[in-house]
Amino acid sequence: MIEGAPHTSPLVAARSRVLAMSAIKEMAIRSARVPDAVSLGWGLPSFQTPEPIRAAVERALRDDPSAGMYTLPAGLPELRRAVAETHSRRTGRNLDPERHVAITAGNMEGINTLLHVLVDPGDEVIVTDPGFVSHIQQIRMNDGRPVYWPMDEAAGWRLDPADLEQRVTPRTKAILLVNPTNPTGTVIPEETLRAAAEIARDKGIFVILDDPYSVFVYEDRERFFDLCCVPEYSDVIVYLFTFSKAYAMSGWRVGYMITPEALIGEIVKMHDLAMICTPRVSQIGATAALREKSPHLDEFRDILDRRRTLVCERLDRLPHVFEYVRPDGAYYVFPRIVSEEQNSVRFAHGLLDEARVTVTPGSAFGPGGEGHVRMAYCVAEDQINLAFDRLEARFGTA
Ligand SMILES: Cc1ncc(COP(=O)(O)O)c(C=O)c1O
Repeated sequence: MIEGAPHTSPLVAARSRVLAMSAIKEMAIRSARVPDAVSLGWGLPSFQTPEPIRAAVERALRDDPSAGMYTLPAGLPELRRAVAETHSRRTGRNLDPERHVAITAGNMEGINTLLHVLVDPGDEVIVTDPGFVSHIQQIRMNDGRPVYWPMDEAAGWRLDPADLEQRVTPRTKAILLVNPTNPTGTVIPEETLRAAAEIARDKGIFVILDDPYSVFVYEDRERFFDLCCVPEYSDVIVYLFTFSKAYAMSGWRVGYMITPEALIGEIVKMHDLAMICTPRVSQIGATAALREKSPHLDEFRDILDRRRTLVCERLDRLPHVFEYVRPDGAYYVFPRIVSEEQNSVRFAHGLLDEARVTVTPGSAFGPGGEGHVRMAYCVAEDQINLAFDRLEARFGTA
């Protein structure tokens, strides 16, 4: 429920009533009511969609009479081809767009569609703890049960494959991973990913890879391991890429799914029931993103890396408030609160009210997130500095 919204109608289904608004959006709504608040809350990068993408859409709107029309549910054939070629180049896999590629309205819609396809009431999906808040809620929304695979903060947010195996039951349908992770910014090592895929193969379940952030790894990029490159796991992995972050297209709502052939028909059917199709203009933009060269990715990565350094330097000046594990990727840091108020919701609300700084309470990201806050450092450097100046004014420096 949205705080401050009128009392909910008794006709609303339990499925909706029991779900909370995502804490990320809840804080964004609260923050909008505080004049001059500075936000490290929402992972909304400050970048503009690159010029070649905008130009392609401008041309299509001017010259292509079908630019405003539906497409077939699975997506524009030229985009599905471009996706198949891009993914084949990246992974060495030979893909047939018809049998393996569906265009989504971003990974939120893609994951939701996939969960509709996979989850019967009471089925389980394993997520990392902490993990992405909306995954937890989407599993519940589909009458499933999130099962938490704990990350060990003391060991740099490490995931232990032995813990994973124990959590698989006859009700498990999938292991849902984000790499680098949200909210901790951890790059999951190769051996952990391979172990997860082995377990999935043994048990006959899927590994779902939700990928907004793999282009944002800052150190030892070679260390990043792409599980999609392992041919033995191609029937086990459902891979979802979003253009939202890598191409600064979050408002366009477009992504793609690479799926085993055994799922494609069900996915396209469910996507049609929710969306009919991803907006054609967004698909035109996504096609340009894949087809046209643009130097923006290196630029985005360099800028985000500088912001990562800045946020860590500023956190280092507040050791009496936060302890943190330095993130390797994505654009989040997930510090533990060591000041007096360690309840993450009260801490975040107090910070907004008293210091006009928005962060997301860690409890939203699973039980292991309590006692932490998530800070998104994808905003401009002056915003990061302003947020930390206010934190220093509120808590003093060490
Ligand atoms: C892990 C994860 N998945 C999905 C999304 C949303 O992606 P999209 O814009 O493609 O729906 C986000 C956005 O922050 C995210 O962090």
